Amino acid sequence: MVLAEFRVANQQRKDSFSIEPSNFPWLREIGDLPSKLSPTYLRQAFLSFFVNFQHRPNPWNALSHKLSPKAVRGLSVFRARCEYCHQATLSMRGYESLPFADWKHWLEAEEKDLVWGAPFYTKTGIKPYVHRAGARVPSLRRVQQKYPYFTNGSSRSLRHLLSRFRHKGLTAWHHYEPQWDQAEAPDAKVLTSDEIDALEELLRFF
Ligand code: HEC
Repeated sequence: MVLAEFRVANQQRKDSFSIEPSNFPWLREIGDLPSKLSPTYLRQAFLSFFVNFQHRPNPWNALSHKLSPKAVRGLSVFRARCEYCHQATLSMRGYESLPFADWKHWLEAEEKDLVWGAPFYTKTGIKPYVHRAGARVPSLRRVQQKYPYFTNGSSRSLRHLLSRFRHKGLTAWHHYEPQWDQAEAPDAKVLTSDEIDALEELLRFF
């Protein structure tokens, strides 16, 4: 929505609008406003909001400050199984991933935040596919507070989601159907229960 808004602004189109605060009584609470808010005024206000806006710190992190030993084990599992899609990056717009050695520090620092997503689409077996290339790799920031999971809502908990995961070399599936055994995913492996425990703990810090 924000990108679309600025695209319209840059094209100097005439379909942008003004707001008259007298038509919106709740705007009085904001205090001194001009009698008419022009498109330029609105966009400047919008921009200064985004410059100052921050996601709320992760409440789990605020309580514990340090990754538990189990979450630290989860980091290695995440690097091996998840990070080539859910990337340790600052933005979904194709920034480079941070080196593994820095992840722990970024997860423990209150003022730092990583996205754990990617701009590309991929097919992971979660159907129906919302795009012809699958689904965009979503951010895992604050994922523990979400419910349910996936575009089709088919996982009720992170534990359930992790128990469905299958991998083989650098291919992975979030949903796997037994009849694929021979064709699409011969000898795809599940995560071990230790790996699931460690990942579940780690995801609380995202
Ligand atoms: C091959 C790329 C790929 C790999 C590897 C991968 N994921 Fe995903 N992940 C996706 C995609 C794409 C989706 C979105 C699927 C959908 O909802 O249609 C997704 C969705 C998720 C979601 C649900 C997010 C939400 O907001 O509903 C979680 C949680 C998740 N992945 C965790 C993991 C974990 C943990 C691993 C490693 C064990 C992992 N993923 C490995 C591509 C991947």
